[in-house]
Amino acid sequence: MPRIVVVGSINMDLVTLAPRFPRPGETLLGTQFFTAHGGKGANQAVAAARLGAQVALVGALGYDAFGDQLHAGLTREGIDLAHVARLTQVGSGTASITVANGENTIAVVPAANAQVSPAQVEAAGDAIAAADAVLVQLEIPLETVDATLRRAEREGVPVILNPAPAQPLPYEWLTRASCITPNQHELATVLGADASVDFRELMRACPCPVVLTRGSEGAWYRTADAAEPRHQAGFAATAVDTTGAGDTFNGALAVFLREGMADAVRKACAAAALSVTKLGAQDGMPTARELGAFLAGRAQAGVRSRRGSP
Ligand code: RIB
Repeated sequence: MPRIVVVGSINMDLVTLAPRFPRPGETLLGTQFFTAHGGKGANQAVAAARLGAQVALVGALGYDAFGDQLHAGLTREGIDLAHVARLTQVGSGTASITVANGENTIAVVPAANAQVSPAQVEAAGDAIAAADAVLVQLEIPLETVDATLRRAEREGVPVILNPAPAQPLPYEWLTRASCITPNQHELATVLGADASVDFRELMRACPCPVVLTRGSEGAWYRTADAAEPRHQAGFAATAVDTTGAGDTFNGALAVFLREGMADAVRKACAAAALSVTKLGAQDGMPTARELGAFLAGRAQAGVRSRRGSP
């Protein structure tokens, strides 16, 4: 069972379904509202736990109703919350999400997530040292991301940096990450490059391995020993809600990293495809059994179509 430590955000997602996105200044009638458990850190932790990993989360929640619900949800997923602080002076993080035609817009209020501290990372040092992989994103203070990269490096543990939400990062950080997992826009932002530059060129310029997510088109990846990026095709799925698809990808990548990059990326693409078929960031995240059945079904379909082809 792989051991994963996630250092990141925990949010309550406030989701409105709408026929389309409202324009600035416009009021639009939505069709449905619901709350769902989210936050990039929590989502990645849940994705990894569903796939069979032993997961510890480092983060922060307020002492409020959302905090109680989120804490209970993560506990039900079997995630170790010993390093999740409960803060009295600030509320839990929230994300206001509009979903229209399977796509989303998100506005996050970090609240407690803005207090996740380097000291918490140090306190989780034993868990990090014992981990097979560490995952970290950018919805928490950058000094805490930095502390995570440094601690993982010191312990010799692979650290996956998911640079979302995008912001320019010190070049030195990229030399410390074992791998970054941006989308095209995030890669350009992280490198301080022009968004019009071909993403394969940016991947070659990055000092660490890159796994670049391309939504339904799958992912591109460049490992440390390969000069050229390789492509993994996406898996067909009917997208109801893409919220959390990238987080599912990251959680799965961390779980399967030990099997080699090519296999890990293929399984992460499949897990992400499954995740978009249900509403909410976490509801569609597959279990290990569901992912296995999905991939076995694809292999069978591949055998049938090859036999059937002239
Ligand atoms: O990546 C999706 C997540 O981003 C949502 O769950 C929301 O909480 C924001 O953090």
